Amino acid sequence: MIFNDLKSILSDIPNTPPEDGQVLYDFILNSATEDILELGFNHGVSTCYMAGALQEKGVGKVITIDRHAARKVSPSLEALLAETGLSDFVEPRYVTNSYTWELRAIIARQSEQGSTVPCFDFCFLDGAHTWETDGMAFFLVDKLLRPGGWILFDDLDWSFASSHSLKNTRAVKAMPEDERTLPQMQEVFDLLVAQHPGYQALRRDQRWGWAQKKPAGAIRPPADVDLLQATYDAQSILPEVKTILRKLRSRFRG
Ligand SMILES: C[S@@+](CC[C@H](N)C(=O)[O-])C[C@H]1O[C@@H](n2cnc3c(N)ncnc32)[C@H](O)[C@@H]1O
Repeated sequence: MIFNDLKSILSDIPNTPPEDGQVLYDFILNSATEDILELGFNHGVSTCYMAGALQEKGVGKVITIDRHAARKVSPSLEALLAETGLSDFVEPRYVTNSYTWELRAIIARQSEQGSTVPCFDFCFLDGAHTWETDGMAFFLVDKLLRPGGWILFDDLDWSFASSHSLKNTRAVKAMPEDERTLPQMQEVFDLLVAQHPGYQALRRDQRWGWAQKKPAGAIRPPADVDLLQATYDAQSILPEVKTILRKLRSRFRG
């Protein structure tokens, strides 16, 4: 499915805005990414951008995990998949408590003779945004990510203190000051991912943090790192080209 068709369906639905959707879409379209894991889908906007790129390539699947409560949001993931025609490229999984428990099940299924066979090329982690859940999720995802695969963290700047819906709750008010105010995904990214010897090519882009699991035996970052840079370059050049075209058009008109 081409990006603009997806954008016209998804642009007014929370959470992933079209600019971010385009980065996700382009990276997946142009890289070797086929098997995707998503932790936290809510309405399924990011899911659809990723699945749309897979459909365009004609290969791959997004396994995406959220709580049963996500069935009740409107529009739901299922409704968006029906509208976009992307159901064949997405496998939703619903959990009672946490995706970390479903990751346990995937690791158990992928385990042979005492080790886990990785099965994903890309993970978009956009769920709990907490040290406890997502610090743990990172190490679980690491077991499932193929060498050379990528993990992308959303909301590095999120904290309990900045959350409109949570900051005034009793549980949050009772938290120690640092637990309440520190952006916990940033802590996961800086202290667990950036310091992990198995990861390279770390990139921070506003709320997003990218990291690549080192390819086996690699001594230099492979082509995907250049591809990620090119993806961002294309986004930043596009507005400039549009401005020049607009100016030229108005000069010729006037
Ligand atoms: C920001 S939304 C996801 C948005 C989506 N990725 C997008 O950009 O379109 C976060 C979702 O994570 C889910 N979530 C949070 N913690 C979770 C957990 N421990 N296990 C499963 N789902 C969780 C929430 O239910 C919510 O739907």
